[in-house]
Amino acid sequence: MSLIKKAVDWIDVRIGTREIVEKELTGYLLPRNINGWYSMGSVLLFAFALQVVTGMLLLIYYVPDADKAFKSVTAIMNDVPFGWLIRMCHAVGSNMMVLALLFHMLSVLFMGSYKKPRELNWVTGFILFTMVQGISLTGYLLPWSQLSFWATTVATNSASAIPVAGPYLVEFLRGSPQVGPPTLGRFFALHVAVIPAGIAALIGAHVFLLKRTGVSAPPFGLPETMNQWQGDSYSYEKHPGGIPFFPHFALEDMRSIAIYMAIFLAVVFYDPYLFFPKDAFIPANPFVTPAHIKPEWYFLANYQTLKIFPNELIGLSLQGAAMTFLALLPFVDCGRERHPLKRPLFMACSVGGLLLWIGLSIWGHLS
Ligand code: HEM
Repeated sequence: MSLIKKAVDWIDVRIGTREIVEKELTGYLLPRNINGWYSMGSVLLFAFALQVVTGMLLLIYYVPDADKAFKSVTAIMNDVPFGWLIRMCHAVGSNMMVLALLFHMLSVLFMGSYKKPRELNWVTGFILFTMVQGISLTGYLLPWSQLSFWATTVATNSASAIPVAGPYLVEFLRGSPQVGPPTLGRFFALHVAVIPAGIAALIGAHVFLLKRTGVSAPPFGLPETMNQWQGDSYSYEKHPGGIPFFPHFALEDMRSIAIYMAIFLAVVFYDPYLFFPKDAFIPANPFVTPAHIKPEWYFLANYQTLKIFPNELIGLSLQGAAMTFLALLPFVDCGRERHPLKRPLFMACSVGGLLLWIGLSIWGHLS
């Protein structure tokens, strides 16, 4: 015991670890009325780390070659010890991470945490949201199944609706006129190197911004529901008398991660093929178009929007407009009030938008 204490003292004398612990953990005070939704960010950090670890393990046996990719994935599932577990964790994990991301976005949306001075937290978060969509889209092609091949054909083809640049963009995305081996090469590079590096860098920026602004106090449980920030000079939002991050909120984070893991493992062990339609088990064949090809559940609303309008450009423009509006939300909704029930216009628009998204997704699923 005393040996451990001696080692800790030795390091402390050199780099001041006790000071770091005091400043960043036990002395890092959070709002007294903080709630469980604030732990969704930590759940996301955990979910991303899990994807990185399982992804690295899959890389040992996966072969990014159009002739070998499907076989290598089949071998991971059937021959490699615990390969099926790692693959299922990666596939289920990607869906669960998107779910956690949506909950995190909804919580900052309804609690008005994107408002001044946290506009940049929102913008970096929004870029993370698009990158997570990009990483799942590129990952979908890698098993080189019928589902992979045709879902990527449909997704990349939608860019052709853009006037003038459209056809060039489609060929640029695919690396060839049709989805083929060059598409696999570039999607692989994007999926395992470019996008993960971008996500890691942006998570760094997102957390840095959080440390500079301080965590927002939820607009519930205390009489003050207005944004605390006033004036035009920088200030850190302190929470005197608040609860320490360690051990109090760290335990709350652990509880949320445990709930996340319970749901995650329940899917992995009891319904592992929940996110796998039958075309995911047939190798890619460019000459046979499957009868029903659908994207993952979180792209169903986009897919249905493109189907509703006879002209794809209208569907694409509407989606672009909705995404731009969401990206710039903190600059449009600038009022100081943060309680959702005291923002009736915001509530009507966001609940309406959410119901529309759910409705379009169900329609896309059933159509
Ligand atoms: C990989 C994706 C993401 C990770 C790992 C992540 C991580 C985090 C963490 C750890 C926090 C601090 C704790 C909390 O309030 O939950 C946070 C706060 C925040 N995040 Fe994210 N986030 C991600 C995506 C997003 C997205 C998509 C948005 C919105 C478009 C967003 C907007 C915000 C905002 C506005 C805050 C400040 C909340 C406050 O101070 O109350 N984040 N994020």
